[in-house]
Amino acid sequence: MTIGKIIDGKAFAATLRDKVADGVAGFVEATGRKPGLAVVLVGEDPASSVYVRSKGKMTVAVGMESFEFKRPDSIGEEDLLDLIEELNQDERVDGILVQLPLPKHIDEAAVIGAIDPAKDVDGFHVVNSGLLATGQEALVPCTPLGCIMLLKDELGDLSGLEAVVVGRSNIVGKPMAQLLLAESATVTIAHSRTRDLASVVHRADIVVAAVGRAEMVKGEWIKPGATVIDVGINRIADGEDGKSRIVGDVATAEALAHVRAITPVPGGVGPMTIAVLLRNTLVAAHARAG
Ligand code: GUN
Repeated sequence: MTIGKIIDGKAFAATLRDKVADGVAGFVEATGRKPGLAVVLVGEDPASSVYVRSKGKMTVAVGMESFEFKRPDSIGEEDLLDLIEELNQDERVDGILVQLPLPKHIDEAAVIGAIDPAKDVDGFHVVNSGLLATGQEALVPCTPLGCIMLLKDELGDLSGLEAVVVGRSNIVGKPMAQLLLAESATVTIAHSRTRDLASVVHRADIVVAAVGRAEMVKGEWIKPGATVIDVGINRIADGEDGKSRIVGDVATAEALAHVRAITPVPGGVGPMTIAVLLRNTLVAAHARAG
């Protein structure tokens, strides 16, 4: 039995960060200032706090300025919108990222909509999603852009390939489908209401799993020789007392016997997201510097 290749997202992300660091050095030389990334964290969610700390460290490591704004869960929407407006006006800030999810009393769409689209390094503003959907230059959501980079590195030209995206979120599924379409893949978006998901997934040369359900995509669903990108990060109990581990949306061990290549969890897509965020911040800085 042949075993598929494990795609090393960690190594790819490290190379991308090195490239960004070179680009940042060039930017500093040309403009006399560092690109700046502002991250806004509302509340104390432990997973979000870990991400934000990691983002801050990596931002500084590539030579950029990192600004962090922590606000309590109790912050009102108006106060959060005032902070966004301040960051929109701040010349030192090239990228603004508001960590999601936000507390329930805050309208997420209103907050994202308040970010200057030119500083929207998450690519979540409707101006950027509209630009992406119409094939124009845009700031593109980090996770799906990282997935496309890994796919092109593995497969080269994606044109004509059958791609199935499992999941229809604004953060991953929808922009992922747009990016695959822009690469001339034949794209299907499957989701919780899709009938016979197994046979839909079995059509695919490319499977992108982004549903947030542990090991939902089974190995036998995968067409032999397909490439699988697993976006899931799910913490599950391990059976032993009190222990837990992180798994993806794909049953990786089973899938390995079928795939050409697959991203592991952890160490696949995860490290790409922050690397692409830094890349987007440099792109935004260049666009703003003119
Ligand atoms: N929460 C989970 N993923 C993301 C992301 O890519 N960006 C932001 N802002 N919040 C997230």
